[in-house]
Amino acid sequence: MRIGITGVPGSGKTTLAKDLAKLYHLPYISINDVVKKHNLGEEVDINKLDKIIRRIVKDMNGFVIEGHLLVEIDINLDILILLRASYRALLRRYRKRKYPDWKIWENIAAEILDYFPINLKNKNYIEINTTGLNRRQLLKKVLKSIEEKQGDVVNWKDDMISLINRGKI
Ligand SMILES: Nc1ncnc2c1ncn2[C@@H]1O[C@H](COP(=O)(O)OP(=O)(O)OP(=O)(O)O)[C@@H](O)[C@H]1O
Ligand SMILES: [Mg+2]
Repeated sequence: MRIGITGVPGSGKTTLAKDLAKLYHLPYISINDVVKKHNLGEEVDINKLDKIIRRIVKDMNGFVIEGHLLVEIDINLDILILLRASYRALLRRYRKRKYPDWKIWENIAAEILDYFPINLKNKNYIEINTTGLNRRQLLKKVLKSIEEKQGDVVNWKDDMISLINRGKI
C-alpha cells in the first residue's frame, strides 16, 4: 500500500505518518528529510525534488510518504490523505515552534484559503478534519475513512464568517 499524507505545516502529518507506518509495517518517508539530505534549500527546486522522490519510491510497493510539498510531486499513490487543522490549533503549534509572524500568517492563510484542496483538485484524496482530535482519535478516524473511502468536507471560510458574525473573532 502506498500512502501519502499532506497538509499545511503543523497539521500533524509526521505524527500520523509514523503511526500509519508502524501499524501497517511500511517504510516511512519524510519529504522534509529528503529536502534536507539533498540540500535542496529554502526555495526548494521542485523539479529536482520530484526526480529524487520518484527515484526513491520507484521499486517500493509500499510506503508512507508525508510532506506539505507532496502536492507538487507526481507519484502514484493508493491513498492520499489531506489533513486540515483549524487556525486556532495551527496558531498554537506555530507559536510553540516560535515561527515569525509572517510565517504564521502565510501558513494560516494557505489553510483558510484552501491552498491544498485547490492544488489537489485533479487528484483523489481523503480530507480529514483533525479539529479536537488527539493522536489516537485521529488515527482511528483515518483508518475508518480509509476503509470507507470517505472523508470530511472542510470549509473554514464559512466557519470563520460565522465566528465573526457571532463576535467570537
Ligand atoms: N492529533 C494531534 N493532536 C494534537 N496534537 C497533535 C496531533 N498531531 C500532531 N500534533 C502536534 O502538533 C505539532 C505538529 O505535528 P507534526 O510535526 O506531526 O506536524 P507536521 O504536519 O508534520 O508539520 P511540518 O509540516 O512542519 O513537518 C506537534 O507538536 C505534534 O505533537
Ligand atoms: Mg512534519
